[in-house]
Amino acid sequence: MNLYEKLKNKTVLVTGGAGFIGSNLCEHLLSINTHVICLDNFSTGKHENIAPFLQHENFKLIEGDIRNLHDCMIACKHVDYILHQAALGSVPRSINDPITTNNVNVSGFLNMLVAARDNAVSRFVYAASSSTYGDHEALPKKEDIIGKPLSPYAITKYVNELYADIFKKTYNLDTIGLRYFNVFGKNQDPNGAYAAVIPKFIQQYINYESPVINGDGSYSRDFTYIENVIQMNINALITEDPEALNTVYNVACGERTTLLKLATSIKSYLTEFDGKINDIDIKFRDNRVGDIPHSLASIQKAKTLLNYKPTHDFNKGLKEAICWYWNNLK
Ligand SMILES: NC(=O)c1ccc[n+]([C@@H]2O[C@H](COP(=O)([O-])OP(=O)(O)OC[C@H]3O[C@@H](n4cnc5c(N)ncnc54)[C@H](O)[C@@H]3O)[C@@H](O)[C@H]2O)c1
Repeated sequence: MNLYEKLKNKTVLVTGGAGFIGSNLCEHLLSINTHVICLDNFSTGKHENIAPFLQHENFKLIEGDIRNLHDCMIACKHVDYILHQAALGSVPRSINDPITTNNVNVSGFLNMLVAARDNAVSRFVYAASSSTYGDHEALPKKEDIIGKPLSPYAITKYVNELYADIFKKTYNLDTIGLRYFNVFGKNQDPNGAYAAVIPKFIQQYINYESPVINGDGSYSRDFTYIENVIQMNINALITEDPEALNTVYNVACGERTTLLKLATSIKSYLTEFDGKINDIDIKFRDNRVGDIPHSLASIQKAKTLLNYKPTHDFNKGLKEAICWYWNNLK
């Protein structure tokens, strides 16, 4: 049997399904005839991200909160697999409000594990984070070598990994953690104090505003296009290799781009749509607390154990994302 057939007519719960990554996962799962349940409290997610699915016969929305065990239990009923994406992202948000971040990202995560266990869910795949590498300077980042967390957010994501490990050992719940590296693509919110850098810069250029880089632009990131993230989630759901389970993987491109290169690439791609964007200067300010200077993933483990074959490098992904924003932001 084709492994992708495994998901046909199965039920997958996507927590945080109205958010950026979650809504892209819902869309893909529906396209391969999977039944999708989306659990979201719309704290950062948007109704418009799931509006196209609301009439779909295989889609069900549960408006609820992962901090509420009852909501988690209801959402996990008759579910085969979970893609757990619900969390409060952003390092600065966690520095401003560590208690709420901890409640959602740790207590909410634990509720979801308990609900998965009690409903005999077959596999729990969850969004981990590259922030878990913390202050360890080695590049590229390999899954087994981490440093000390640099923010409350990073602590919560590391605690998720520890809980997932214990739920395998104690209750035999199969889990896979996906350490996402700076994901970007359609549906990522460009607005608000905690917006990610790529949609923010794109929107600023489209509005003829200067993007502002924290630091001198030399900090670098392994920016990862959403299609690669979808692939890893699906591969994590369908793998039948026991060696591939109950561990964590980097989900990245394996390519490092500086913030300055990012800003200039966005500008040059957008200039093809609107020549006036070429005249916009880039501005600089101090580095932010909690930001790591460089991030680059080894994707060898994902390739070897989860058959990961990234389809989009940084440039291909950025061009696709910019086309989407150009058609949807203006
Ligand atoms: N985007 C990235 O670059 C990145 C990097 C590393 C890890 N991650 C992780 O990936 C996951 C998805 O991130 P995203 O970028 O799509 O963020 P997002 O904010 O767009 O999506 C998160 C979703 O979770 C929902 N949510 C938040 N709190 C909730 C609660 N208490 N109950 C129910 N739903 C709740 C939000 O409403 C939103 O729809 C998160 O776990 C995040 O930590 C993202």
